[in-house]
Amino acid sequence: MQQFVIEGGMKLSGEVIISGAKNSALPIIAASLLTDKKVVLENVPDLVDVRTMIELIQHLGADVMFDRHVLRIHTPKIKKIDAPYDIVRKMRASYYVLGALLAREKKAKVSLPGGCAIGPRPIDLHIKGLRTMGVNIEIEEGFINAHTRQLSGHEVNIEGPKGTSVGATINVMIAAVQAKGETIISPAACEPEVIDVANFLNAMGFDITGQGTHRINIKGKSSATDVKYSIIPDRIEAGTFATAAAITRSSITIKDCCPDHLTSILGKLEEIGVGVGRGENNIVVNGTRQMHAANIFVATYPGFPTDMQAQFMALLSIVRGTSTIKETIFENRFMQALELMRMGADITIEGNTAVINGVDKLSGAYLMASDLRASAALVLAGLVAKGRTVVRRIYHLDRGYEKFEIKLRRLGASIKRQSE
Ligand code: UD1
Repeated sequence: MQQFVIEGGMKLSGEVIISGAKNSALPIIAASLLTDKKVVLENVPDLVDVRTMIELIQHLGADVMFDRHVLRIHTPKIKKIDAPYDIVRKMRASYYVLGALLAREKKAKVSLPGGCAIGPRPIDLHIKGLRTMGVNIEIEEGFINAHTRQLSGHEVNIEGPKGTSVGATINVMIAAVQAKGETIISPAACEPEVIDVANFLNAMGFDITGQGTHRINIKGKSSATDVKYSIIPDRIEAGTFATAAAITRSSITIKDCCPDHLTSILGKLEEIGVGVGRGENNIVVNGTRQMHAANIFVATYPGFPTDMQAQFMALLSIVRGTSTIKETIFENRFMQALELMRMGADITIEGNTAVINGVDKLSGAYLMASDLRASAALVLAGLVAKGRTVVRRIYHLDRGYEKFEIKLRRLGASIKRQSE
């Protein structure tokens, strides 16, 4: 296994270029199975999760070429309809092939993903949505066995106890593009990645309106065309680099991103005291000013994203005063807190709220990464800690950040990858 070794205390400067969004790329790659036409995707991030999704669609029959962020996919025929456990266990987002296989082959067999470090992650809302559209679904021996004679448009309500679901909205949307009649998803998730998938499907010739609102309308159509499409920039990667500048009290420029997708993240940085300059597709972050404690309430888009909460916890742990983070989406997403406390952070967890009393400094330590965003938080803490920090199990981080340590090194950080 690999680990990062970080010598803390270096200032960052210069520019960083943001990659394509993981959470758009994964469903868009799965959705390319809908058609026997040629699909060309640009700005595809080179991530372990993307490679896993490629492996899955190849297993199902796709011919794939991936070179320098351009992914060419051609699936003249679906050869298999199963997503095996060995692939799904590596990446939950494998469930996105369910919608595409049902639309194209009317059947699918997808292994159940199980839980993960950030808490239980059921897929009941995906199943509910697809059942509403006329899919028979049985759970047998750890697999979702799904088949339908005809997908039919319907009003689909996939609201769960935690609100709307990004994954279920996208899965139903993919299944619905070729359904008979009109499908309305309400309430729908309105994350930028949902819009991106809808825009990709429209570029293929399908008919979706309302993406970006809580009511998505899909008119079923049977044919698609060749398509070339560019994935949006990763707002969480951009937010993570913005937080890296803040925590190291540095000033950097974040390029090739979409500032409009980061409104709540940048707004919270400004509230903390970080200077933020927004360009059309770049952001200048100035972390050299006095910072103040803040309260964060995690919510669905356009609220503060759960995927940025861990990185902000690292930042707030060295901002004077008492801050709080209330996590409302995933129950067990404070795994980074215990590791930050081993570096000297003063954090108390009370239910779904973390109370952070800012300390003057963190000290380097041996740390264990537990999930993707927690890993990023620990790296950020290591950048500012006194002395050496070793972050183990960075395979989590490689799932979702492209060349993270190389991008940080170019900004001036002292971070290297080595075998444990
Ligand atoms: C996606 C993102 C993830 C992000 C999350 C929330 C991808 C690949 N992952 O995950 O990075 O943290 O959105 O913005 O895009 N829920 C149910 N039943 C379901 C589905 C979800 O109860 O069938 C619950 C979840 O447990 C969670 C909440 O709904 O509490 C939101 O989950 P959801 O929006 O579906 O997250 P994902 O799509 O899995």
